[in-house]
Amino acid sequence: MRHIISVRDMDRAAIDALLDAAYEIEARRYNPQRLAGKILALLFYEPSTRTRMSFESAMARLGGSSVTMGSVEASSVAKGETLADTIRVVSGYVDAIVLRHPKEGAARLASEFSSVPVINAGDGAGQHPSQTLLDLYTIRRAMPINGVRVGLLGDLRYGRTTHSLALALSLYGAEIAAVAPKGLELPSGILRELADRGTSVTEYSAIEDVIAGLDVLYVTRIQRERFPDTASYLDIASSYRITPELIGLARDHLIVLHPLPRVDEIDPRVDAMPNAKYFEQAHHGIPVRMAMLSEVLA
Ligand code: NCD
Repeated sequence: MRHIISVRDMDRAAIDALLDAAYEIEARRYNPQRLAGKILALLFYEPSTRTRMSFESAMARLGGSSVTMGSVEASSVAKGETLADTIRVVSGYVDAIVLRHPKEGAARLASEFSSVPVINAGDGAGQHPSQTLLDLYTIRRAMPINGVRVGLLGDLRYGRTTHSLALALSLYGAEIAAVAPKGLELPSGILRELADRGTSVTEYSAIEDVIAGLDVLYVTRIQRERFPDTASYLDIASSYRITPELIGLARDHLIVLHPLPRVDEIDPRVDAMPNAKYFEQAHHGIPVRMAMLSEVLA
C-alpha cells in the first residue's frame, strides 16, 4: 500500500515519474475511467478551497467519486472522536483518504490506522506534498528545475508548503534564498536537513536584496491561524509586498508563485504581468492530483 505523507519519503525518480504522469494527463493521454468504481474520502479538519476541490475534481475526472466528512463541527469529531477511530472507520468505507489536519504528524499517524492509502493534504506546519508536486510541475513547465535559484518569501516558520518545497528542491541541486520577517525564519530542523542534503540556503530579511538573482520567487501568506495570539500576528502582518516595481528589479524570466490563498502580500497589479504564474499553478493541481490518485489507487 502506497501512502503519500512527506516529501522526505520520495526520491527524485519518484517525483519525476509523478510529474511526467501529470504531463501526460494534461496532454489528455489518460484513461478517463481509470478509477471507475473507486471512492475517495476527503477529511479536512482545517479550511481548504483548492486542495479539497481539486482532489475532488481530479477523482471525478478519472471516473471515481468522493465522499466528504464535511466540517469538523458537523462530524463526530465534535463529539470527541479521536483521529485514529475516525480513520479506522472511514478506511472501511473508501479506497483512499485525503487528510488535512492542524497537527503536525497527523497524516503519518492516520496511515498507521488506515487500511487504505492516505494522502497528506497538509499537517499543521509539517508537510504538504501534493502542493509541492504542483509547485515543481509549474517550475518545470517554465524552466529546468535542476540548479534553479528559488527565493522562499514569507512565513517560513509555519508555512508547510515551504518546508515541503525546500526539501524537494534539494533533490534538484537548487539554491535557496530564505527571506522571512524576524521570528518567521525556516525552522532550524529544516535548515539542518537541507544542510545534510548539501543544499545551499542563504537567509535574508529583505526581498529587495536578493530578487535580482532569482529564477523563482515563491511567496507565502503569514499563517495567522498558527500564531499564539492576534497581537503577535498584527506585529508582523503586511511586512512585505510584491509589486510591479519590485519585479522590475528581477530578471525577465523570473516566475512568481504562491500556493494561495493570498491576503495582501501580492499587489493585484502583478497579476497581469507575464511573471505571475500563481493562478496557472493552482490549475496544475488537477493533473498533478490526478497523477497522484492514479498512482495510489489504480
Ligand atoms: C496552503 C496550505 O494549506 O498550506 N494552501 C494550499 O493548500 N494551497 C497555503 C496557505 O494556506 O497559506
